[in-house]
Amino acid sequence: MRVVVLETAKQVNEFAADVVCALIGLRQQQHQPTILGLATGGTPLGLYSELITRHQSGKISFSNVDTFNLDEYVGVAPSSPCSYHYYMLENLFRHVDIDLTRTHVPQTYDVDLSESASRFERQIEQAGGIDLQILGIGVDGHIGFNEIGSSLGSRTRVKTLTHQTRSDNARYFESLEHVPRTALTMGIATILESQSILLMAHGAGKAQTIRNTIEGPITASVPASALQLHPDVTIVLDEAAASSLSNKEYYLESERNRGLLSRSS
Ligand code: PGA
Repeated sequence: MRVVVLETAKQVNEFAADVVCALIGLRQQQHQPTILGLATGGTPLGLYSELITRHQSGKISFSNVDTFNLDEYVGVAPSSPCSYHYYMLENLFRHVDIDLTRTHVPQTYDVDLSESASRFERQIEQAGGIDLQILGIGVDGHIGFNEIGSSLGSRTRVKTLTHQTRSDNARYFESLEHVPRTALTMGIATILESQSILLMAHGAGKAQTIRNTIEGPITASVPASALQLHPDVTIVLDEAAASSLSNKEYYLESERNRGLLSRSS
C-alpha cells in the first residue's frame, strides 16, 4: 500500500484531485471512458469542490466519464436531500459536464433490493469494471457501508448500519431516529475488483481506524483492512489522521524516495 501523509486536509483534497484528473487525462489519450467509483460523506466534499473548480477553469472534462457510487440508504427517495443521489447531484454532478445517464447510484427506493443489487453489479461489469474507486472510511473501519463483520468476499447487498454509523450520520438528518437502519452497498469483493483504490481520511477522529486499517491484521472486524489484499491502493491522510501510525517515518521516507526515483527516470 502507498501511504501518503500530507500536512493539511486541503493538500489531501488536491492530491486526490490530481489522481482523478491524471486518470481522466490518460483515458482520454487512450480514447477510452474513465470509470470512476465515488464515495459520499464529509470526506470527499473537498475533492469534489476541487474537481468542480478544475472543470470550471477548463482543466478537466467529465464528458467521457461513467460513475458508480458505493452506496445508498434504503427507504430514502432519490429526491430527498438526505439521499446520496441528491448529495452527488448537489456536490458534483450538476456543476460539471457529466452525462447524468452515465452516473449510477444504487437504486433503493420502491424497488426489489436484491434485483437492484444484482443489476448494479452487472452494470459495473458491463462498463468494464471500475478504474479508480474513491473511498472514505468510517470511524468503525467501514468502507462503503460494509460494516464490522462484513464478509471480505461480499458483493453488493443490503447491510444493517451500526449505531456508530447512524450516530455519525445523524447530522444530515432531522434526528438519529430519522437515520435509516439499512443501506445497499457495494461489497468488499466488489470494491477490491477496482483497478486502483484511493482512500482519503482527514482528522484525528480517524487516526485509530487508519492505524488498524494499515498496520493491523486483515479482519472483517475492520473491513477497510481488506485493502491490504489489493495491489494498487493509495491511502492519503492529513497529519491528524496519520497521527497514530507506528511506521509514519517509513511512509514519509518511501514518498521521498518515490519523488527521487521519478526525477531520475
Ligand atoms: P465521513 O464518512 O466522510 O463523513 O467521515 C466516511 C464513511 O462513512 O465512509
